[in-house]
Parts: sequence; structure tokens; C-alpha cells
Amino acid sequence: MKYIIRQATISDLPSILEIVNHAILNTTAIYDYDPRSLEEQTVIFETKKAKNFPTFVAEHDHEIVGFGTYDTFRTKVGYRFTVEHSVYVKEGFAGKGIGQLLMEELISTAKKENYHIMIGVIDASNENSIRFHEKFGFKSMGILKEVGFKFDRWLDANLMTLKL
Ligand SMILES: CC(C)(COP(=O)(O)OP(=O)(O)OC[C@H]1O[C@@H](n2cnc3c(N)ncnc32)[C@H](O)[C@@H]1OP(=O)(O)O)[C@@H](O)C(=O)NCCC(=O)NCCS
Repeated sequence: MKYIIRQATISDLPSILEIVNHAILNTTAIYDYDPRSLEEQTVIFETKKAKNFPTFVAEHDHEIVGFGTYDTFRTKVGYRFTVEHSVYVKEGFAGKGIGQLLMEELISTAKKENYHIMIGVIDASNENSIRFHEKFGFKSMGILKEVGFKFDRWLDANLMTLKL
């Protein structure tokens, strides 16, 4: 098979970091400003693992070309059947079906774990990601106007949900 989807391990974290830091520095796909350190990424990974939340990577020819994960949406107990996910594909590998493989794995895992709603908080200008989510049945539930600020401009967040 061309792309292998598997659980991430500690040794994948530098590759995941490279993908996420590229998105932080160059895009509004993620609203962070500063690149993460390996230590910060390790804490994020271990904290998710401790909560039984998955991180999957896509591997191609021994290279990590994407990752997908989900986590708590909001911490109040009544939100416990909802998870917030993210999917990132490495620059140069978009449009090859990798995001789809990662998303399918996230959705089937979340279903097995009996989650009810999966939510993506997507920058409203990220039309590729919005089309991508629509393909899996995610629906736009509302746009939070100007809740983000990055690269000297206000950003709108599109809340897209999928009933699992
Ligand atoms: C958005 C992203 C995850 C999609 O992953 P991908 O591997 O590029 O997408 P795939 O090749 O698996 O495409 C799956 C479907 O998504 C949609 N899609 C993906 N890219 C698209 C594009 N540029 N324009 C329109 N639709 C697109 C299509 O419906 C496509 O299905 P099709 O090929 O049968 O038409 C990926 O491009 C990415 O990581 N982008 C940068 C970071 C980002 O925006 N992450 C999402 C944060 S919310």
C-alpha cells in the first residue's frame, strides 16, 4: 500500500512537529503564532495518550507525510461525548488522498469509542479544508466572526460537526 496509517510513536514527534510548525508559521489553519518545541509536542502527545485519545500518522516510504488526532472539545463534563479533531498533511503531499485516509481512521476510532459528535474548528478562509470536511459529511454549524487574530488580521472560525 502506498500510504500506511498507524498509531504515532514518540519517534514520530519530530516529523509531526515539522508539519505543525510549518502550518503555524505560514498559515491560518492553526491560530498559534510561535512554533512549538519538541518538549511541548511531547507533552501534548503524552497528555492525549493518557486520556486515551489517538494520534495517527501517515507514512510513505519511511517518511511521515501527515497526522491526525482528536482531543477534548471543552473540558466541562457535559461535553464528554464530543471530540475536536485536526488533520494536517505535509506540504507537497496535499490532494493525494492522505487526509482522507487519516480522517477515515479518526472517524472510525471515535465511533468505536462511542463519541457522538466530532467537531472541527476551521478557519473560514480555508476553503480546501471546508470542502475536505464536507466530503465526510461534516456540516457548517456557524461562523464565529473575528474570534481569531493572526498575521495582522481578524479571522473567522467555521464550526463544522459530524454526527458519528
Ligand atoms: C485540508 C487537508 C487536511 C486535506 O487533506 P488532503 O490529503 O489534501 O485531501 P485528500 O487528497 O485526502 O482529499 C480528500 C477530499 O477532500 C476534498 N479536497 C481536498 N483538497 C481539496 C482542494 N484543494 N479543493 C477542493 N477540495 C479538496 C475533496 O473532496 C477530496 O476528495 P476528492 O479527491 O475525491 O475530490 C490538507 O490539504 C492539509 O493538511 N492542508 C493544510 C493544513 C490544513 O488546512 N489542515 C486542516 C486544518 S482544519
